[in-house]
Amino acid sequence: MQLWKHPYAFICVHRKMSDSEDEGPPQLSSYALAALQEFYAEQQQHHSDLRGDHKYNIGIIEENWQLSQFWYSPETALRLAEDAVAAAGEGGRIACVSAPSVYQKLRERHRDNVSVCIFEYDRRFAVYGEDFVYYDYKSPVDLPERIATHSFDIVVADPPYLSEECLRKMSETIKLLTRGKIMLCTGAVMEEAAEKLLGVKMCKFIPEHTRALGNEFRCFVNYDSGLDRDLSVQLSGQEGPK
Ligand SMILES: C[S@@+](CC[C@H](N)C(=O)[O-])C[C@H]1O[C@@H](n2cnc3c(N)ncnc32)[C@H](O)[C@@H]1O
Repeated sequence: MQLWKHPYAFICVHRKMSDSEDEGPPQLSSYALAALQEFYAEQQQHHSDLRGDHKYNIGIIEENWQLSQFWYSPETALRLAEDAVAAAGEGGRIACVSAPSVYQKLRERHRDNVSVCIFEYDRRFAVYGEDFVYYDYKSPVDLPERIATHSFDIVVADPPYLSEECLRKMSETIKLLTRGKIMLCTGAVMEEAAEKLLGVKMCKFIPEHTRALGNEFRCFVNYDSGLDRDLSVQLSGQEGPK
């Protein structure tokens, strides 16, 4: 949503312009009214998108930079999702920890052959119902009872901050959830800490985001992953960006 389109913007503008209390109740100009109607139409469309076929589109929930949200490009999310499915195996269980775009791609592509949970701090993702697990890395082992320890074949994680403290805390969660396999996506500067905390190694594949980031960003895994080979090979059946 663009800030200038927020209804408050118009109401405030109007109040500033009305200089007399005697003029009766405030009236919106035809311009303000049209913009307000457009705003509500967009909101309505957004809410019905979240209930319909578009609900797993990356970006349907907009980035909030206050929460350090930077979504992967659809191609990167697809590549990570397909690698996670290959690692988890048929009927496998995948945990996406602070990696909502990978969750969305998995749900879009693999409704039936894998089970997926999205561990997220941002409660807007509760729109995904039972799959959503509220998660704050600052309380790394504070998880609901329905989440059994070591019950995920692979954990895909992308910590919100490039700090050792954040990675250390999130590593506790990752180790609690996984049966062994880990895919971590974070800044290249975290390489040493990632290897020390989780035993993961940097892959050749370079993840991309919908917006350019200032930091070099990489994937790290602890299993034999396609992300470390066949960089030129396109995934079969891969579609263009959504
Ligand atoms: C760098 S983004 C990773 C998103 C990933 N690139 C994607 O496209 O799916 C970090 C994620 O951490 C989440 N986050 C922010 N604060 C958090 C917290 N306190 N605990 C856990 N996750 C948090 C954000 O909502 C965001 O999804």
